[in-house]
Amino acid sequence: MEREYQLCPSILSADFWKLGEQIREVEKAGCRWLHIDIMDGTFVPPVSFGETVVASIRKQTELFFDVHMMTVHPETHIESMAAAGADLMCVHAEACRHLDRTLQAIRAAGMKTGVALNPATPLSALDYVLDKTDMVLLMTVNPGYGGQSYLPAMTGKIRSLREKLDAAGYPQIHIEVDGGINAKTADTVLEAGANILVAGSAFFSGDLQANGRFFHERIQAHLAG
Ligand code: DX5
Ligand code: ZN
Repeated sequence: MEREYQLCPSILSADFWKLGEQIREVEKAGCRWLHIDIMDGTFVPPVSFGETVVASIRKQTELFFDVHMMTVHPETHIESMAAAGADLMCVHAEACRHLDRTLQAIRAAGMKTGVALNPATPLSALDYVLDKTDMVLLMTVNPGYGGQSYLPAMTGKIRSLREKLDAAGYPQIHIEVDGGINAKTADTVLEAGANILVAGSAFFSGDLQANGRFFHERIQAHLAG
């Protein structure tokens, strides 16, 4: 199976004074996906931004909007996120009392689905919803903040997830890794089986174009085997 690989910069680490320019840099770096972190101050301590910002940037870019809901009751935002222009809505298994229903509702609203798992949440949380899942987001740090260090125990979790998806007949489900993905960890997560790499601080610091080139080179090197 031909697997799609994407570098997905997280705008949480962008300079919001010049958000538009920063999104142009993401496009210029050859990225197709944009990671958008929605935080409600309850599921995670910080508050970030919501539908208004998503709708505003939607008018200016064709990037695929990968919306990571770090909120309680994410089901209350399905219609509004779809209207704002989200392409994929990723909800935390820990935040959904009715995960199956929520995933159905996300698809019914015309978006792709993602299920995010905190580092301590077992993969078995996915067992009965794989047919409704387009992407699994493995948190490789505890959610809430950019710039944290990759948790080494997550490498085995990525590998186990790839094996599980292949064995269950869902090799097409994307594995996204989020948190601490940088020059030190990119090869490790690619080798373990991740195909969507979120990069916040490692993309939005220093020379953005050089950062983009670095990650794309690592993806090409991985594909070349
Ligand atoms: C953290 C967010 C991440 C964050 C990653 O909870 O979900 O998307 O932006 O930032 P880095 O890449 O700096 O760890
Ligand atoms: Zn995220």
